[in-house]
Formats: sequence, C-alpha cells, structure tokens
Amino acid sequence: MPGDIFYVSTPIYYPNDVPHVGTAYTTIAADCIARFQRMLKGSENVFFLTGTDEHGQKIEQAAKERGNEPQEYVDKMVSAFQEVWRKMNISNDDFIRTTQPRHEIAVQKIFKKLLENGNIYKSEYEGWYCVHDETFWLPSQLVDGNKCPNPECGREVQLVREDGYFFRLSDYADRVLAHVEENPNFVRPESRRNEVISFINQGLQDLCITRKKLKWGIQFPDDPEYTIYVWVEALCNYLTAIGYPDGNPEFFRKIWPANIHLLAKDILRFHAIIWPAMLMALELPLPECVFAHGWLVMEGAKVSKSKGGFRNLAEMINDYGPDSIRYFLLREATFGLDMEFSEEALLRRYNSELGNDLGNLLNRSLGMLHKYCNGIVPEARDKNEADYKLLEMFDSVPEKFRAHMENVEFRSALETLWELVVGL
Ligand code: MSP
Repeated sequence: MPGDIFYVSTPIYYPNDVPHVGTAYTTIAADCIARFQRMLKGSENVFFLTGTDEHGQKIEQAAKERGNEPQEYVDKMVSAFQEVWRKMNISNDDFIRTTQPRHEIAVQKIFKKLLENGNIYKSEYEGWYCVHDETFWLPSQLVDGNKCPNPECGREVQLVREDGYFFRLSDYADRVLAHVEENPNFVRPESRRNEVISFINQGLQDLCITRKKLKWGIQFPDDPEYTIYVWVEALCNYLTAIGYPDGNPEFFRKIWPANIHLLAKDILRFHAIIWPAMLMALELPLPECVFAHGWLVMEGAKVSKSKGGFRNLAEMINDYGPDSIRYFLLREATFGLDMEFSEEALLRRYNSELGNDLGNLLNRSLGMLHKYCNGIVPEARDKNEADYKLLEMFDSVPEKFRAHMENVEFRSALETLWELVVGL
C-alpha cells in the first residue's frame, strides 16, 4: 500500500559546524517519533532519514578559510556529525550526503525532468544573495539597503546579476495555498500554517534555481556553466535517499509520501511552499505533514555557532549521558514553541525527575523485590483499593500516551507517563 512505511525526516544539516544542542533538538525529536512508530509498526515499517547538505557557497567558503578542498572539508566534518549521532543513540535508518553519487545523479534527473516538462525556463536574474542563509532576497526585503532581513542573520548580502534558470513557482501558488488550507495537518503547528498562508497570499515569484560562478554544486543538466541552487537540490534528498527516480519502485511506492518532515521555523517556507510546488511539478504526492518546531534559545537568542553560547554536544553527552539530554529537550517545553535552554534547567530536571522520581522508584521497587520476593515479580493477590487505582492508571496511560505521541506532543506524553512514575 502507498505510504505503508512510516517515513520521518530531519533537515539535512550544513556541515560547516559540528552538531550542537540546536541541531540535536530536531534529530532527537525525529528519533523519538521513529522509535515510537517502530514499537507500533515494527522496525521494517519505519524509515528515519537524516543527513548533511554539503554543497553551496557557504561550505565552499568555510573550506577555503581552512585551506581545505571542499570535499576534503565536508568528509572531515560529516564524520563528526555521524560520530555525535552515534553517541546520542540516534537510530536513523539511512544517512544521506548530498555529495554522494546516488544524490547527485538523481538530482540531475529530477531537474532534467522539470526542464523537459516546462517547469523551468532560462532568464536574467538580478537580486541579492545571503551566503550565510543561502537565500535570494528582493531589494524591498533588505534591511538598511544591503543587509539580510533574517533577524538571526543581518549579514551583508551580495548582488547577483547573471542569466540563470528559473522554476515556475508562481504557477503553483494557488495549488499550494489550496493544499495548505484544505489540509489543516499539512503545516503544523497552526500558527506556522497561518504564517505560510499569509506569505503565499502576498504573492510568489518564480525562483532562480542556478548559480553561475559557483563551482561547488551539482551541475545543471546539459549546461556545465551552471550549478543547481543548493536549497532546491537539498530538498530533493527526501526523494533521492529512497531511490527516486530510478530505484526500486516497489519500495518507493510503499514509503512515499513521507509522513512527517521535521524542521525548525527558520526553514519552513522552503518546506511548506517551494518543496510542495516542486513535488507538484514532478507529479508526486505531498508529505502528510511539515512540522516546524521552535528554536532553542539562550537568553532569547537562537542557539547557533555564529552567536556562540552553546557547548560542544559531544562534551555535553559525556557530562550528562544521551538519555538525560533527550529527556530534558522533549520534556521542558511544548514542541512547536521556542524553548529557553540552560544546563542549570537540565540539571534540575535530571536531579528531580530522573534522579528522584524515576531513580527512587526503580531503587525502591528493585530493593523490595529482592528483599521480600527473591527478585521475582510475584502474582498480584489480595488486591486493595490502592492496587485497583494503580491498575486503572496502567490501563489508561498507554492510550493517552499514544494519542500525545501521534500528535507530536512530547511534553504531554512524558507528563502522562510520569503519572505512573509519581503515582506508584
Ligand atoms: N541545510 C539546510 C536544511 C536543508 S533541508 C532540505 C539548513 N541546515 S542547518 O544546518 O542550518 O540546519 C537548520 C536546522 O537545524 C533547523 O531547521 C533546525 O531543525 C535545526 N536547528 C539549528 N539550530 C537550532 C536551534 N537553535 N533550535 C532549534 N533547531 C535548530 O538549514
């Protein structure tokens, strides 16, 4: 059956930085969804994808600054990513790198198809490019005439004046809008959905999808003068990893469309507008849900390398262990909203909830089990009122937990689970 396999993805991360607690946030959430779905459907029916986005001007520059060739640079950085995810017990089924031939070849086929079916045309481009965000901006969007309007960025933009290839994004505005409006669960949470609707209502322009002077990218089909704009090829990873267009069609039918693309609010428009339009142009069904969570912030500012203020994730895992970090990130705030991150808060929950509540419960139960029952769980007998209450709780908690998990409400799911931990 189409979509029989539950497919969950994270964004593919730029490897110009080692993973930090911000990148871990999305990956841990996706991991938690994948593990939960495996319990429901069996491992063979779940596919969890993450990976790295390795082309583009930002990576090329980062490599150059370190005196490396781009490929050498990304190879080194990507191993750091894989190593940290391993330390964090991330259970991804595949790891896609956009420099792998399976991606590069498939992307060229995808763009050839879009070219042949009239969704791409050649024209002149003049506009502003932010290298850090790998994003094109209109002059009217710039701050102070030459700065990136993303409040988390604000860097100077570059003038790009070149002929290039364009994707007919504007042709899809009405269909994407209708899809977002008719499918309330397509863009979640609701506040993000409203943001997408109002953005589309302001009108969409066709999108320049090539760069002329940039060498570090995938060559545009049949035109070696151009490389494909890093964002549009990166989005294709969700398809190329599962063998589109020329892989096993049986597998593809079972797995596509994805059930949930997880990402943070900073890259929602790419996923909720450009990506659906590209899929429509390829005549493929759209993912069931694009879920944009909030940012991890420290004193109000997004946790990121350039802003500083975060610690190496591998070190944090050494200090607290992967499970405490997972627990904290999923328990502390409503998934979807921004969350203030601090190690003090992590330690508070570690001590009171994991140490006291859960740890004491385990210690006490195991202690008594050994002391009074020779380490063997006895049959329940002579039940009293308290036992019946407990049994009732054990009956009702799993259903409530499942509903929260299916709704991507990690915090409520954990609160529900804790009814058992503190009720015992
Ligand atoms: N390469 C693109 C994504 C392409 S997907 C087809 C990109 N990469 S990124 O390395 O900048 O990662 C962005 C993603 O990292 C965010 O959408 C989010 O999932 C995660 N986060 C990075 N910093 C974060 C926080 N401070 N808080 C929450 N999530 C964070 O954009």
